Amino acid sequence: MSFTAYWNGEWIPSEEIRIDPLDRGFMVADATFEATRTFNGRIYHLGDHIRRLYRSLDYIRLDPGLTEEEMAALTEEAVERNLDKLDAVGDLHIHHFVTRGKGRRAWSADGAQVGIRVSGLDFAGYYTAYEGLKAIITRTQSYHAEALDPKIKHYSRMNFNLAELEANEFDPGALPILRDRDGYITEGSSYNVFIVTDGAVHTSTTRTVLEGVSRKVVLNLTSQLDIETRIEDIQPYDVLNADECFFTSTSWCMVPVTTVDKQPVGDGKIGPVTKQLLAAWSENVALDIVDQAVRYGTRATA
Ligand SMILES: Cc1ncc(COP(=O)(O)O)c(C=O)c1O
Repeated sequence: MSFTAYWNGEWIPSEEIRIDPLDRGFMVADATFEATRTFNGRIYHLGDHIRRLYRSLDYIRLDPGLTEEEMAALTEEAVERNLDKLDAVGDLHIHHFVTRGKGRRAWSADGAQVGIRVSGLDFAGYYTAYEGLKAIITRTQSYHAEALDPKIKHYSRMNFNLAELEANEFDPGALPILRDRDGYITEGSSYNVFIVTDGAVHTSTTRTVLEGVSRKVVLNLTSQLDIETRIEDIQPYDVLNADECFFTSTSWCMVPVTTVDKQPVGDGKIGPVTKQLLAAWSENVALDIVDQAVRYGTRATA
């Protein structure tokens, strides 16, 4: 299936996007990106994603040559141009990326390269996650926030790569939960971390994590549902004693975590608060999130 992508002012088949090996995005991870999804073909929280992209761009001093409004309009158009694949894939994933272009130094680069790539959500790759994930709290740490602000969504992800390897070596198939240098829980390689203890939802402050759009959705839901919520430093001790744990990210929305460090979380089953939040999220988007992932995921792997 060929999707249409925006690439530096043109609309081309996605597979024809070519990144020069000398591009600084490839050479030295001098790039920022966003991941956004649709529900029923409609872009979810586009404003939040575009704003985060531009906050990242401003911080890394990279001008994409497009205003936020132009980027939002191009994103709408990118989805529009691929809507004919919706029945086949279920919903769409949108990947914005902006690199600094070629150049020996960051200040001498020859200009931003801007792409908006659309594809089907990878339901086949993650639909089983809703049965409960395994996680490992890794020795590999998040970058110190004063060295590289975690609010930038950037490509310098070697610590996440190492954390994924470490978690998998310790418990095959497990995903990492990283810590900061003080030992507090931060996030995973593409997701925020939540725990539930005595009915209250806890998540880390944004001092050391990406401000996930899905994290914000969960915080809005807990407020609507009157679920006690605390944004605070979390220690490994708190995770290992939690009743429930779940991860949030754009494609999954939220997925339960049923073991951490090979120990069951709570009774090792998906907990009531996780179920309540997933149900409320599904209701808000008029689509059963788990059912959609399982339907399209099993179809693709059949
Ligand atoms: C490091 C990191 N943390 C958290 C998230 C979750 O953010 P969002 O909910 O906006 O997808 C991501 C998403 O890719 C991420 O890369």
